[in-house]
Amino acid sequence: MDNSNSTNLDPTIIVIFGVTGDLAKRKILPAIYHLLKDGLLPDKLKIIGTSRTKITLNRLITDLELCVLEQNKVCDSLVLAKFKSILELIQLNPQNPKDFPILNTKLSQIEEANKICFNRLFYLAVPPDVVEDIIKILGLSGLNRSCIHNKAKTRLLIEKPFGNDLNSAKRLISNISHFFKEDQLFRIDHYLAKEMAQNIITFRKYNPIFNQIWDSELIKSVKIKVYENIGIEKRINFYENTGALRDILQSHLLALLTLVTFDIPKNISDINSLHKSKLKLLKKVKLKDSKNIANNLIVGQYKSYRREIKNKNSFTETFVSLSLKIDNLKWNGVNFILVTGKNLKYKKTKIEITFRANKQMAENKLTFRLQPNEGIDLKLNLKKPGLDNQITKTNMDFSYKNSFPSDPGHPDAYERVLIDSLKGDLSLFPTNDEIIESWKIIQPILTSWNKSQTNKNLIIYNDQINPNLIK
Ligand code: BG6
Repeated sequence: MDNSNSTNLDPTIIVIFGVTGDLAKRKILPAIYHLLKDGLLPDKLKIIGTSRTKITLNRLITDLELCVLEQNKVCDSLVLAKFKSILELIQLNPQNPKDFPILNTKLSQIEEANKICFNRLFYLAVPPDVVEDIIKILGLSGLNRSCIHNKAKTRLLIEKPFGNDLNSAKRLISNISHFFKEDQLFRIDHYLAKEMAQNIITFRKYNPIFNQIWDSELIKSVKIKVYENIGIEKRINFYENTGALRDILQSHLLALLTLVTFDIPKNISDINSLHKSKLKLLKKVKLKDSKNIANNLIVGQYKSYRREIKNKNSFTETFVSLSLKIDNLKWNGVNFILVTGKNLKYKKTKIEITFRANKQMAENKLTFRLQPNEGIDLKLNLKKPGLDNQITKTNMDFSYKNSFPSDPGHPDAYERVLIDSLKGDLSLFPTNDEIIESWKIIQPILTSWNKSQTNKNLIIYNDQINPNLIK
């Protein structure tokens, strides 16, 4: 455990609602363990995990792969002991106000024992339909404030999707605003926290050759793909009510599209300018064919899905491909395709930027590989070695693995999400306005898909299929 330097982060209590859920087990707790091992968390830190059913700490820890982010996936005994000493579990129904005094008392006890007022970070790792109830109860029980009002901070970390459609998102924003101010809200889009996603702004801003050709004059199309080789795992209820459009497209894919196309403000540390520019871009994103919505869309479902969820009439999409345009001068005429699917042949997240070709030359393509094998490659037309002048396509390749061989591995996206929210840095977290704009973009699709759900419009694809074969 690295105790060499103190992090200067304020004393904090993290309350995880849904500590026995899939997300807490797969992502949040391993990220906390890893940060703890690297000495990156506040010196004074307590974690309270809440669950509806009673569970012991040892049971919880045996149930999860706590050390997945470690080399060899092995836990260090000292760090594990420390982890256990700061984590406490309480049984609580997050939709029952009568259970909240237990939490309130627990927080006060910790603060009184330490004789300080802690920052409070409520992590809502729960299904979307529970979020609003928790926020309301937190507000009504005074837990929207710390023990010294306006001194220590109280923040909410909320998982996506934020709302279920445009109207519900608007309602949610308005209801939350009765209890929490916008700067207390950290709505997570963990794709923005991936190392390669972070690098897109740097790449665009600090490489003048690309900076100057970054528009419709030279760019023909942008395709963003989030392919997964896993199915819905055990998240049956969540996925049935969500589907690929809401789960990945409305959030992760639109966020990546924005990173590629928004005007990067002069000062990227200025959070307000950053969000203002992203919002300006989102307002210009439209369906490619606004008259015939079906023309923009391919919707699919993997073959074993209905059996898995035990509903032979389900039309929930596990694959979606959407064509968009950006209605401004800079991007006029460029095709944008966002595509995502589950239970495909491989896991891959890529952004492919294809440049305009001419008659003699094949097109150049720039690809950001977000996962796996993070890096960037550029397809070039070059001469094949030999006496004649044959042109061939080759790859210029930057990969993290080769360029930073001593890098022990970059932080997991959830580590970054946690650290930024502990610091109160909102750069990576979408604002209310950005959320509303992204729902506005896909609302016509949701409405049209709701009305036209028939087996004819849904492609049933073989599990583990090559995604390029879904047409
Ligand atoms: C989550 C989605 O936001 O992202 C999941 O809810 C998906 O359905 C996951 O599996 C993928 O994240 P990653 O980081 O593994 O690509």
